Amino acid sequence: MNPILQHVENGVLTLTLNRTDKKNSLTSAMYAELADALLSAQADAGIKVVLIQGHETVFSAGNDIADFLQQPAAGEDSPVFRFLRGIAVFAKPLMASVCGPAVGIGTTMLLHCDLVYAGDNAAFSMPFVNLGLCPEAGSSLLVAQLMGHQRAAEALLMGEPFLAETAMELGLINRVLPPSEVNAYAQQQARKMAAKPLSSLMETKRLMKASQTPLVLERIKQEGAVFGRMLKEPAAVEAFSAFMEKRKPVF
Ligand code: COA
Repeated sequence: MNPILQHVENGVLTLTLNRTDKKNSLTSAMYAELADALLSAQADAGIKVVLIQGHETVFSAGNDIADFLQQPAAGEDSPVFRFLRGIAVFAKPLMASVCGPAVGIGTTMLLHCDLVYAGDNAAFSMPFVNLGLCPEAGSSLLVAQLMGHQRAAEALLMGEPFLAETAMELGLINRVLPPSEVNAYAQQQARKMAAKPLSSLMETKRLMKASQTPLVLERIKQEGAVFGRMLKEPAAVEAFSAFMEKRKPVF
């Protein structure tokens, strides 16, 4: 079964994370497919909006840890970096529909989305420190901008999860709905957006993000260098071994 489903209708490209047996954790192959889909959506005049969604029980458990160990991201042309750059510079509206756990990149990718709808079962977390790692996807910059340093420290230094109600209060998401309704509602909103003039949507988004995008790209690069180094250090090696062996890590 394809772990990423792609569907185009009414000007909306819907990318569905479809690997629920592994909690929609993302492999290199999935990052590559997502990055390629964003590139083609950018070039395709028939696509006006992209919507990323998961299942009503889970959005994404973040990086696939086993895959990560086998093929760690190597450099800026790696699939994960292509995906991160892709969402950071995507020029058309990008939307997400999130239910259940959104771990690591499952949360940080939302910082690059224009509209995010969530189920009341959504649980957001960025547990990089618990894994011996550092933030990615520009989150070391964007999370503090969104919620202020102290609340960002709770999320990034403590790695504490937060629920839909808090995400709503923080401005990370636009609306909370029953999980069974979120994907349909997000689709309806995406179609409403896709009916608007594309040139206006793109110019508006470009102007909203113009001063921020270069800073975000630079931060993604800096984080990537640190993340790559830390991945080989003892804390991350222990955290990942513990996950694979289904035990608590000892740092
Ligand atoms: N990478 C690889 N496999 C993962 C995974 C990940 N990030 N997250 C979950 N899985 C796998 C589990 O190993 C398990 O596989 P198995 O059935 O072959 O044993 C399966 O998905 C189900 O996961 P499980 O932990 O039993 O589900 P749960 O409902 O109890 O918990 C989560 C869901 C998302 C809270 C939990 O899986 C989790 O915390 N995952 C790790 C998140 C993480 O640290 N991500 C890395 C961010 S950089």
